[in-house]
Parts: sequence; structure tokens; C-alpha cells
Amino acid sequence: MLEIINAAVSKLKAVGGESPRIGLILGSGLGDYAETLDNKRFVNYADIEGYPVSEVHGHKNRFVVGEKYGKTVIAMQGRFHYYEGYPQNLLALGVRTMKKLGVEKLLVTNAAGGVNLDYKPGTLMLISDHINLSGGNPLIGKNLDEFGLRFPDQSNVYDKELRSRLKALAGENGIELAEGVYLMMSGPCYETPAEIRMARIIGADAVGMSTIPETMTASHCGIKVVGISLITNMAAGILDQPLSHEEVNETAAISAKRFTALVNLILEKLF
Ligand code: HPA
Repeated sequence: MLEIINAAVSKLKAVGGESPRIGLILGSGLGDYAETLDNKRFVNYADIEGYPVSEVHGHKNRFVVGEKYGKTVIAMQGRFHYYEGYPQNLLALGVRTMKKLGVEKLLVTNAAGGVNLDYKPGTLMLISDHINLSGGNPLIGKNLDEFGLRFPDQSNVYDKELRSRLKALAGENGIELAEGVYLMMSGPCYETPAEIRMARIIGADAVGMSTIPETMTASHCGIKVVGISLITNMAAGILDQPLSHEEVNETAAISAKRFTALVNLILEKLF
């Protein structure tokens, strides 16, 4: 694991420029955001010894380093999902590579189903906390002590101070932002109506198939995390209609402008 991370770090250092202090992992609907960085440099995953490459069509499978608002940013274009068959400790590689390069703050976004009945498709939700029902954990296996403790605290995975500042900033800038708990299931199936009723009872506001492996890994190694879910659909059993990937993509496309405005605000004013 450490060899793969070190190989990635040296490839990324070789493309030059300042060390990034900000990391980005962007979900459905925002994958192209990395294209808006200035002075972009690329490192393909395929050129890093041992690095996994996602087979999902359209994934670019590369790191992008560039500048935004004068700050150096590293983004992953092509995210790995647990449901694709990767063990969760492989999902930790990107975040640990970022850590070794000097990243201090990470923005993670995703598309999610709305569990909270006050939400609607298009709602932007700041993640306050999570419930990991994925069945996996990225920290299982030998602990890499240079990154963090064997039994890490998870009381503040989604940094409290950054959340409070972001809520104020969103308000000042007229961006509506809910705040709630994200629950991860493994996927790739959408959940059953009974699972969604359970999710609501145990305190979840949104449900999805990503993000938690990355945010747990970041918290383990001391990176401050901000997580944003775009609610693309109401979760199973709430409306009398089946769920589909098309609906998720459609809502993501319709909401892309507001989502981008929020990401811009985070990079310009919060980070
Ligand atoms: N469930 C799980 N993942 C999702 C959903 C959902 O309803 N919508 C978008 N990603």
C-alpha cells in the first residue's frame, strides 16, 4: 500500500508546481469541475505502479493539479466505488497520496437519495456526520502508523468549525444549504423502502454509495473534511415511482450551476 502511495507522490511531485493544500473528490454532476482549474498538470492512474484504474465508462482516471483563486488544488478525476469491487483500503489511496503531498483540507461531494422528508431533488446538504452501513471500512488491515492511530476518534470527521463558517457564508451568498447525516450502503442496488424507513429511524437524512471511505481515511490522517451531498432523488418508497440512474443524472445536470457556485464559494472563501 505504502509503495503505491509513494509512487503516486513522486509522479505528482515530478509534474512540478507548489504543493497542494486543498483536495477535491467530486461526485456525479461535478466531475468536470477539475477542468476549471488554471495551469493544470495531469498524472494518469495507469502511469502509477500498482494504482487501480476504474473501468466505469467516461471516468478519466487521473489526478489533476492546478490553481483556483490562487490556491493550489489537487483533484481526483475518476472516483472508485466499493460496489465496483475494490476493497475499501484501496479507496484510501487517493486521500493518503494527498496527505503526503501536504493537503490539509478536503472537499468531498456526492449525489444522494433524500431520506429526510423535508428535502427535495436539488437540495444541497452539508454533511454533519455519517453512518457507515457499507459493510466495509477503509482502515481494516495493518494500521499505517505514519498516517494515524489504530483506533481513531471519529467525533469530528466533518470539521465543526468549517461547517459553521460555511453555513454563514452560504447564507450571506444566498445559497440554501441544509445540514444532515449521510448514510452509506454498499450499493449497487438502490435501497428497499424498508431500508429507507430504517435509515430515517436511526437518524439519516441522505443515503448514498460513496464518500465515507474517503472521509474516514482523511479524518484518520488529520485532514479537515467538508462534505456536500446533492439530493438527486427522494430515496426508495417515499414517492410512488422507481429509482433510476437517469433521474440521478438529470437532477445533477439541472443543479450543476448551484452546486458549482457552492464549490467555488468553498474554494474561494472557506479554504
Ligand atoms: N440511494 C443510494 N445512492 C444514491 C441515491 C439513492 O437513492 N441517489 C443517488 N445516489
